[in-house]
Amino acid sequence: MGVLDRFRLDGRTVVITGGSRGLGRAMAQGLAEAGADLVLVGREGEALEAARQELVALGRWVAVVPGDVSTPSGAEAACRQVLALNRPVDVLVNNVGGRRVDLPTEQMPVEQWQQLVDLNLTSALVCCQQLCKGMLDRRRGSVINVTSIAGAWVSIPKIGGRHYETAKAALTGLTRAMAADWAPLGVRANAIAPGGFLTDANRRWFGEKPEFQTSFESRIPMGRLGEPDELAATAVYLASDASSYVTGATVIVDGGYTLW
Ligand SMILES: NC(=O)c1ccc[n+]([C@@H]2O[C@H](COP(=O)([O-])OP(=O)(O)OC[C@H]3O[C@@H](n4cnc5c(N)ncnc54)[C@H](OP(=O)(O)O)[C@@H]3O)[C@@H](O)[C@H]2O)c1
Repeated sequence: MGVLDRFRLDGRTVVITGGSRGLGRAMAQGLAEAGADLVLVGREGEALEAARQELVALGRWVAVVPGDVSTPSGAEAACRQVLALNRPVDVLVNNVGGRRVDLPTEQMPVEQWQQLVDLNLTSALVCCQQLCKGMLDRRRGSVINVTSIAGAWVSIPKIGGRHYETAKAALTGLTRAMAADWAPLGVRANAIAPGGFLTDANRRWFGEKPEFQTSFESRIPMGRLGEPDELAATAVYLASDASSYVTGATVIVDGGYTLW
C-alpha cells in the first residue's frame, strides 16, 4: 500500500460531535473527501441538514443526529441515537466545546463552571464510553479529541472564562490516559489542539472586538489566524491508518502561536 493510500477512509464511519458548523464542519469535509461515511451531531436540525446535503454530494453516506451533548444525559441520549443507526463506529471526533463566557476566575459561579466543564470535558468522556465499546470489541478504532492551545500550553490573554483552559487541559489528560489504557486493545486516542481559526462564529466575534483580533494575531509567528479547512488534513491523518503508530499525541495546529 502506498503512503497516500494509508490516508484513505473508505468504508469507515466517523462520528463528529458538532459536525454541522465551524471546525467540525471543516473536518467533516476532509474526512468525507478521504472516503469516510459520517454521522454529524449538533443541536440545530437546519444546520445539520444543510451539512448533510453538501456532504452527500461527495458520494458518502451521511446521517445526522440532533442532540445537545452539553449535559451527561444529553450526551447519552445523542449516543443512543447514533447507536440506533446500527453502524459500527470506526472513528469518534469529540469536537464540541467552547469558552462561551468571559468572566474573571474570581467571579465565576461554580454551577456555571461545572456546566462548562461538562460541555468541554464530560461530553467527550460520555461519548467515548457510549460509542467506543464496538471499537474495543473489534480491536480497532481511533478517537480524536479537539482540545485547544489553551488546553496545556498557554492561557489566552485578555479574556476570562478559565474553565476553558482547565477543561481542555483535562481533556488532554484524558486523551493520554485513555490512549495508554486502550493501546493494548487496538484503539488509539489523540488530540488536535487548534490555535485561533476564522470560523464564521469567530469572524462575527472578532468583528465586534477588532482589538482582540489584532492582539491575538500579533502573537502568531505566521501573523494570521487559520482557515478552518487547514485543520481537516490533521483530522484525516489521525483518523486513518496513516497514524497507525501514533497514540496519546496532541497535534498543535496554531500557526506557531505556542512558540513565542
Ligand atoms: N474556533 C477556534 O478558533 C478554536 C480554537 C481552539 C479550539 N477550538 C475548539 O474546537 C472545537 C470546535 O470549535 P468551533 O469554534 O468550530 O465551535 P462552534 O462554532 O461553537 O460549534 C461548532 C459545532 O458544534 C455544535 N455544537 C455546539 N454546542 C453543541 C452542543 N451542546 N451539543 C451538540 N452540538 C453542539 C454546533 O452546532 P449547533 O450550534 O447547531 O449545536 C456546530 O456544529 C471546540 O471544542 C473548540 O473549543 C476552536
